[in-house]
Amino acid sequence: MATGTYAGGVADETVLDRAVAALRAGGLVAFPTETVYGLGADAANPAAVARLYAVKRRPREHPVIVHLASADELDHWATEVPPAARELAARHWPGPLTLVLRRAPGVPDAACGGRETIALRVPDQPLALALLRAFGGGIAAPSANRFGQVSPTSAGHVRAALGDEVDVILDGGPCAVGVESTILDLSDPAHPRLLRPGGVSAEQLAQTLGAPPPQDTGPARAPGMLPLHYAPAARVVVCVDAAALAAAAAGLEPCATGVILPAGSGAAPPGTVVLGRPADEAAYAHDLYALLREADARGLEVVLAVPPAARGLGVAVRDRLRRAAAG
Ligand code: TXA
Ligand code: MG
Repeated sequence: MATGTYAGGVADETVLDRAVAALRAGGLVAFPTETVYGLGADAANPAAVARLYAVKRRPREHPVIVHLASADELDHWATEVPPAARELAARHWPGPLTLVLRRAPGVPDAACGGRETIALRVPDQPLALALLRAFGGGIAAPSANRFGQVSPTSAGHVRAALGDEVDVILDGGPCAVGVESTILDLSDPAHPRLLRPGGVSAEQLAQTLGAPPPQDTGPARAPGMLPLHYAPAARVVVCVDAAALAAAAAGLEPCATGVILPAGSGAAPPGTVVLGRPADEAAYAHDLYALLREADARGLEVVLAVPPAARGLGVAVRDRLRRAAAG
């Protein structure tokens, strides 16, 4: 495995060249996005995508997102693209918004799990964009973790989880957003559906769609979004406020109990391990997965978390905490 670092806004040409060569040869390249790290393969190469599924240990019926360098490539992958999708792409790409659209004829089954729809996004991360431009095609990329585990928000997380099974890991530092992209299904333009809350809020989508899209985050609509997703080994308990958290902590061993409490929401119970006190919803999203990993690294048994307010990125954080607690 080759590991490349990236600093100061300029991509290291050699590492980028190696990554592009790996993709062209059907290999796997882990790369940073603004949300989480992705594990990428040439979306037009079924054997490469098959290897991606094998390394991730991901069931075949769970389709992946195809990453593009720009919205200009939309019509290569999708057909019957509704005006709302073009408007959203113009407003939010590059950015943490994935659009599910009808797939164009000729798009290989591998790129969309054999479905009639395809998930597309343009990531807002300079190294990801440099890779996509240099490669020149679509990169199929799920989050660069094993199926069901917490998504990686640093190159170190990817290395720890997938290590030698990846051909190149591009290191772009910690991810700016920290939770996965918003997924909006526009394959039936008359009935937009929010399949996963993320970095683009329902309020922001409403500015284009006229109303916030109804949430439909069940596994039937967004395959792969099972409750066990996003779960660390530690048991996660969501507590409505600091008082509920104190009550939940009462019967627990304090030194085996991690706590995440938004700043200003009250004190942590004495003796518990304070994993984080995020200042706002964005900071909570940015830190969430690293804090869950830290809980496991410290061998904690339980993580008690008071969620952020349900606005902006707080909606996505609440969704991931709920899934982690169910897992
Ligand atoms: O932020 C992100 O979206 C990250 C970065 C790497 O871009 N990627 C990511 O990929 O979270 P992944 O594979 O962990 O989640 C992709 C989700 C799947 O859970 C699946 O439900 C949904 O996208 N998806 C993909 N194609 C779909 C389709 N055609 N219809 C409905 N859902 C789809
Ligand atoms: Mg994932």
